[in-house]
Amino acid sequence: MDLLELETARKISLDEIASASDGAKVEALRIKYVGRNGSIPMLIKAMKDVPKEERPLFGKAVQAWKAEVEALLQSKQAVSSEKKIECDLSQPGRWFGFGLKHPLTRVIEETAAIFGKLGFTVADGPELENKFNNFTALNTPSHHPSMDKSDTFWFGEDCLLRTQTSPVQIRAMMANKPPVRVICPGRTYRRDTTDATHSANFHQIEGLYVDTLPEKPVSLADLKSVLAYFAREMMGDGVTVRFRPHFFPFTEPSVEVDFSCHVCKGRGCGVCKQSGWIEVAGAGMVDPRVFEHVGYDPAKVSGYAFGFGVERIAMIKYGIPDIRWLYENDVRFLSQLA
Ligand code: DAH
Repeated sequence: MDLLELETARKISLDEIASASDGAKVEALRIKYVGRNGSIPMLIKAMKDVPKEERPLFGKAVQAWKAEVEALLQSKQAVSSEKKIECDLSQPGRWFGFGLKHPLTRVIEETAAIFGKLGFTVADGPELENKFNNFTALNTPSHHPSMDKSDTFWFGEDCLLRTQTSPVQIRAMMANKPPVRVICPGRTYRRDTTDATHSANFHQIEGLYVDTLPEKPVSLADLKSVLAYFAREMMGDGVTVRFRPHFFPFTEPSVEVDFSCHVCKGRGCGVCKQSGWIEVAGAGMVDPRVFEHVGYDPAKVSGYAFGFGVERIAMIKYGIPDIRWLYENDVRFLSQLA
């Protein structure tokens, strides 16, 4: 390269740098011209090949070019970082909206708070259960359909995904002496095809109160009053509770529990299918055989138990017609429940 070519290269480089429009381009040009293998350092390295008499002049010109390029790069870099800061500070923030808890979480937390006021604590149990806790101790005989291998998710002979939260009753009683006053929210599993009202994975909240005899007898009337209180707190004033006779292996007597419809106040509407009542839970007085299985003396204790479907409460409380909406995580749906 002679002096003339050097002058041409200099002009091109300064033009290029001057017209670089953003930080990335300025950086690319810095690498191109003054980076370790950039054209100017390469030219300096090749200085020894320049004839001796031209070397001083040529060297000076190269150093001057380098200084100009560096100065221009520096001023461009300063401008682009200033621009960056300006943008960050002046742009209004983007609004993503407030998040809110999922309706199922809300029902579980509200239930825990309501029963908490009545002295119930929250107990927990595993989703993978054994046969004893999920069936045997709950007085469920082996010919019961829910024990069928094709009705439940089994992992070997003695391990299954719990079909109900009732096994937590067993765990709570085995771990504590009466009085026992717990609720147990959690996931449950059944072999089910999914439609608007069924899901193979759903949630329940179990409740259990056992106290000692003869000092503190527990009755069906106690159960009804506690559930009536829960109904009012969860659904609003004026909601009442109805018991219908039913059968569960682990309670005797057993009932199905209806709340009067909170939407039409019992007059009949679409939510309660014109009946004025909505079925929400199973319940009853703990069967003496269950007490025997957990090592309690049935002559010395009495108690009640109940089990709600969380999805069911959420669906009637928030007017959700399809259970699947609860699992799709579609914010267009969830944000309507604020
Ligand atoms: N475990 C029952 C079910 O999944 C619900 C239930 C009924 C729970 C009666 C109870 C009870 O504690 O006493 O269908």
